[in-house]
Amino acid sequence: MQVFGLDVGGSGIKGAPVDTQTGELLDERARVGTPDPATPEGIVEAAAEVVSRFGWNGPVGCGFPAVMKGGVAHTAANIDEQAVGFDFGGALEEALGCRVGLVNDADAAGLAEARWGAARDNNGLVLVLTVGTGIGTALISDGTLVPNTELGHIELGGRDAESYAADAARKRENLGWKEFAGRFNEYLGAMERLFWPDLIVIGGGASKKDEKFLRRLEARADIVPAEMLNTAGLAGAALAAADNIGAPA
Ligand code: BGC
Repeated sequence: MQVFGLDVGGSGIKGAPVDTQTGELLDERARVGTPDPATPEGIVEAAAEVVSRFGWNGPVGCGFPAVMKGGVAHTAANIDEQAVGFDFGGALEEALGCRVGLVNDADAAGLAEARWGAARDNNGLVLVLTVGTGIGTALISDGTLVPNTELGHIELGGRDAESYAADAARKRENLGWKEFAGRFNEYLGAMERLFWPDLIVIGGGASKKDEKFLRRLEARADIVPAEMLNTAGLAGAALAAADNIGAPA
């Protein structure tokens, strides 16, 4: 099946048509800047602009950095709070005139890693973590996603975990990689005590720092870097739409 995948992020909105059998992009990815301020209407307009560049009128899947249920955003940890309660599914369907499914961005990346990437052969419990501005989490058991886990917001060191251990915290507080990896290991310890995953997949910018970051991480479970790189978000969003996850209720 061919589905258009969209990935809405804090700085850019990326999209491309995706072959949902293979996870491959069928055309070069397009990107437009996320509007500032990132009002819901502005985001919908920019996302529609990405899709229209391809003259696409088939199904669309979109990853969004919030809890998503039936097309509606329910949280706004790292995005404009006007998003809360906004029906992105309905607005995008109206703007595009086609079926649109919305899922959490980390869930989209997790689905892609489980189907085609670093967790493709694992039928146990997989925890996919995207380490960036926030900590996005996807929990997948034998290929089935438990959506909207938001485990980046557990309490750690008396703080919201992502404000303590996301890559943005490293930059904001000028932490060295060793100290940052130490903080992230505390986070992994908390995840292991609660969920006992068999495999932990690390995505996001920090996952490319092998010597500085990945090699310093410790857990009982195997820890591997994400494999889908920049395409996990949009390929996973397309896959979710093909499987009818996140469609408006
Ligand atoms: C949000 C999640 C999102 C993650 C990564 C967090 O702040 O609460 O919904 O998946 O950032 O973008």
